[in-house]
Amino acid sequence: MEKSKLEDKVCIVTGATSGMGRGIATSFYEHGAKIILSGRNKERGNALAQELSGSVFIPGDVGNVDYNKRLVTEAINAFGRLDILSLNAGILGLGNVIDLPIAEWKRTLDVNLSSLFYISKYAIPYLLKDDGGTILINASIAAFKGFPNHPAYCASKGATLALMRQMAVEYAPKIRVNAICPGPVDTPLIWDSARAFPNPQEAVESAERATLLNRLGTPEDIAKLALFLVSEDSSWITGTAMTIDGGILNA
Ligand SMILES: NC(=O)c1ccc[n+]([C@@H]2O[C@H](COP(=O)([O-])OP(=O)(O)OC[C@H]3O[C@@H](n4cnc5c(N)ncnc54)[C@H](O)[C@@H]3O)[C@@H](O)[C@H]2O)c1
Repeated sequence: MEKSKLEDKVCIVTGATSGMGRGIATSFYEHGAKIILSGRNKERGNALAQELSGSVFIPGDVGNVDYNKRLVTEAINAFGRLDILSLNAGILGLGNVIDLPIAEWKRTLDVNLSSLFYISKYAIPYLLKDDGGTILINASIAAFKGFPNHPAYCASKGATLALMRQMAVEYAPKIRVNAICPGPVDTPLIWDSARAFPNPQEAVESAERATLLNRLGTPEDIAKLALFLVSEDSSWITGTAMTIDGGILNA
């Protein structure tokens, strides 16, 4: 029988209790990975840990340095190794530059950007062991394009790509570091994002119409690319930001 793509691999998946993170955690589990699930919602996290049996849910805030350290420690305590980080936690920090409170700007950068540095800092010593590991950052097309009322979001997502490339350079060849840049994907976050527009329903529908492929993405679409980018199938890919957007950037 063919070996599962992630058999014996230990992953930390952030943002695992919802949307794309949940889709990714489920796919990695189905392909044999052992998973530390990170998220804020305890009810959803505990239910998912039951569904993906053998997985461990650790609730907390990725903006907190010690929580990131703990995710790594728990992976080592539970499974004895660490191979993959899939980093999906994200918030929007909605408001234009004049109106966005400074605390909200800082919070958005903490959750979307600094958290990636924190967890990488503690995880990389383990990812460097044995055959090495992979880090996959969930960025956004907002890294390439401005959206009204999303200054902190756009800035943080652009900076994640710079950090991704820097870590790819620093830790090659043992660790591959890549990013995915989704367009509009049907998750709770897109509906929050639509609140920045006068008519949220119309904003989501117009995003859908604006894709060349005439539909929103699904967490499953994203999970397929994530699986490719953390598995041996992409063993010659590092330092790359892959757009997965139904063609909206070219529309
Ligand atoms: N949905 C889209 O259209 C879209 C497009 C491009 C990029 N993204 C990115 O994809 C990623 C996943 O978002 P999603 O669309 O699945 O939305 P989502 O709201 O379903 O998931 C976001 C997850 O991040 C977690 N999270 C937020 N703040 C956190 C914190 N402080 N500590 C711990 N966890 C925290 C939430 O609990 C949730 O599980 C995000 O980074 C988002 O920026 C989303």
